[in-house]
Amino acid sequence: LVQLPTQQLADKYFKNNPNEAETPTWTNPCNDKRHLEILPEGRKDKCKNLPDFVIVGPQKTGTTALMNFLKHHPTVLSSFDSPTTYEELQFFSSQNYKNGLNWYLDLFPDRPKEEKTMIFEKSATYFTSSPTIPRIKALLPTVKIVSVLLEPGARAYSWYFHQRAHNIPAAMKYSFMEVLNAKEGDDSQLLDLQNRCLAPGNYAKHLSKWISAFESNVVIVDGDKLKSDPISAMNDFQHDIGTPTFVDYSKLIAFDEQKGFFCPLEGEKTHCLGISKGRKYPDMPEDCRKAIDEFYAPLNLNLKELLTKHELPYPSWLK
Ligand code: A3P
Repeated sequence: LVQLPTQQLADKYFKNNPNEAETPTWTNPCNDKRHLEILPEGRKDKCKNLPDFVIVGPQKTGTTALMNFLKHHPTVLSSFDSPTTYEELQFFSSQNYKNGLNWYLDLFPDRPKEEKTMIFEKSATYFTSSPTIPRIKALLPTVKIVSVLLEPGARAYSWYFHQRAHNIPAAMKYSFMEVLNAKEGDDSQLLDLQNRCLAPGNYAKHLSKWISAFESNVVIVDGDKLKSDPISAMNDFQHDIGTPTFVDYSKLIAFDEQKGFFCPLEGEKTHCLGISKGRKYPDMPEDCRKAIDEFYAPLNLNLKELLTKHELPYPSWLK
């Protein structure tokens, strides 16, 4: 047996295992006494701040509203905003993973010693990202996974207008109906847009992977209820996630006539999300609604089966 100096050993190891050099897998150093011992002072306590739950998306289902409402909960703490990815940390799903564990840990507040709290982060890109599940599982094996399920047709329509608001050329060029009707052989930009618009709404396909990894730690939020009746959605959520204290959300949020949505109360006034959340656009035309309902009908049946099998509640729109 030949023993090399550490650096040479590492070089040799990564030469033989190039995939691991590209994508290390971060685990929790606090779960291993030997790892904990070699952490410098000042970093030993940091892993206590790792999240208790992660809101994984999908995008355009009301994840920012959920996060915003939770920021007003007295015993729930949110991650800080990422310096690079506009509010969401997107650690497990992006190049940020290569920034290393300390980068992630430094984006969480210290857990207060004197009272029980829950810490969370939300990155809506996680829901459909393939490397994310094993990465979260490796670092946070017992974390709760929160997914917001909005009726998938409404989600797709919202996503399409989000692309238009960002002047994405294919979305500017093609109508929503053209996106729905795109078929093999059409403009590749249109097909790509169609895929990114519709695929995340195949909830059963994605959710089954999360359930396989996290089993009963998966929590579903009804996206339609979060929009129309967030007071009871948030009261239910506290129960489902197990917040250390319960607060009646009728005291924390109120309907804002101008915004057309519920917003957190700050004093007497509501403080709503910016213009990119709760956009104004025309109602979905009837022919589009018919086409999208047909598209999602079999996928929604799969979702029903999946939720039934795992004794998870149906969102109202699925009933
Ligand atoms: P629209 O802007 O298309 O209406 P996400 O934060 O996951 O990207 O989701 C954005 C969607 O959240 C918005 O899509 C909006 O419909 C929905 N939403 C739900 N509750 C909201 C609230 N209280 N304020 C603003 N948007 C809310």
